[in-house]
Amino acid sequence: MNDANFRWATSTVPVPTDGQMLLRNLWLSFDPTQYLLMRSIGDPDLPVGSVMRGLAVSQVVDSRLAGFRAGDIVHGFSGWEDYSLSDGKGFLDTAQVPPSVPPNLALGTLGVTGMAAYFGVVEVARPRAGETFVVSGAAGGVGSIAGQIAKIHGLRVIGITGGKAKVDWLVGEGRFDAAIDHRIEDVGARLTALCPDGIDIFFDNVGGPVLDEALGRLRTEGRVIVCGGTSRYVAKDLPPGPANYLNLCMVRGRMEGILARDYAARFPEAAKAMLAWIHSGQLRSKEDVAIGLENAPGALARLFRGENIGKQLLKIADPSTTPVG
Ligand SMILES: NC(=O)c1ccc[n+]([C@@H]2O[C@H](COP(=O)([O-])OP(=O)(O)OC[C@H]3O[C@@H](n4cnc5c(N)ncnc54)[C@H](OP(=O)(O)O)[C@@H]3O)[C@@H](O)[C@H]2O)c1
Repeated sequence: MNDANFRWATSTVPVPTDGQMLLRNLWLSFDPTQYLLMRSIGDPDLPVGSVMRGLAVSQVVDSRLAGFRAGDIVHGFSGWEDYSLSDGKGFLDTAQVPPSVPPNLALGTLGVTGMAAYFGVVEVARPRAGETFVVSGAAGGVGSIAGQIAKIHGLRVIGITGGKAKVDWLVGEGRFDAAIDHRIEDVGARLTALCPDGIDIFFDNVGGPVLDEALGRLRTEGRVIVCGGTSRYVAKDLPPGPANYLNLCMVRGRMEGILARDYAARFPEAAKAMLAWIHSGQLRSKEDVAIGLENAPGALARLFRGENIGKQLLKIADPSTTPVG
């Protein structure tokens, strides 16, 4: 993926009709699944030539949609454009951002990214203090939060990531117990050394060979939480399944998916908990921020080059403080 996959286009600002609102997009979120949209295997379908879609925090400019007024700051599905029309529906229904929450936080740690981490750890993994927790894509948006939430719950946390800067961030600011650099280290050997009694919870963001290594080291009643499979998104053909899956039988293990949007009604509860951890200093919300709409393709590509540390965002504009619409 590169800039050549995208075309820059200009048009007049659209006018909302009944049931629509006009949004000024302020911040864009980047998720590896956007690459699936580009390959037309995503939800929704994204035909070639259409506007790239994704989650955003936006300001309502004009509204003919019940529940939204000009000036509101909202979080929802939008496009890579300055102004978008929205009917409030999409992969995630559009919701108000509370005035006390900055837009970047609403889109990252308190958005779908942080929600996948929170509910994946707290509800699906059901952690117990003292357990060993391993997370792949550990320095990314989801992984960095998932590992820290496990740490807050009293688990021993090991991250798998790519590059020294990410390892340093995880064991420094992130307060992980250890981190494995998959670019220069033998992940299997390091997992054996760091988890001599096995892994209780493997929180997976990338899939592929790392998932297999974790499956083979799962402890009795271990859990594998399938949050994402970034390595799969770019694969041309489906790779062979994990060879070590039968270990789930031997250890009476569980492998379960997490889809953050299933918990949408409970996002406020998770946001409250995570905000309290952020304010107490227990949770570091790490962001990697690009600036300017023209840099959106490059920001997405950063995810697949492993360049982002923390949640990849892009800032387009500040909210207007004067009346809009
Ligand atoms: N289930 C849900 O509700 C939900 C919600 C949000 C996101 N997700 C999924 O969670 C995962 C993490 O999302 P995120 O937004 O936090 O992204 P991210 O982890 O911040 O960014 C992607 C990272 O993946 C790693 N990576 C890139 N290409 C790879 C490859 N070919 N093989 C293995 N690793 C590769 C890189 O990290 P390293 O340099 O460390 O390798 C890169 O920095 C994604 O799969 C995403 O789709 C799921």
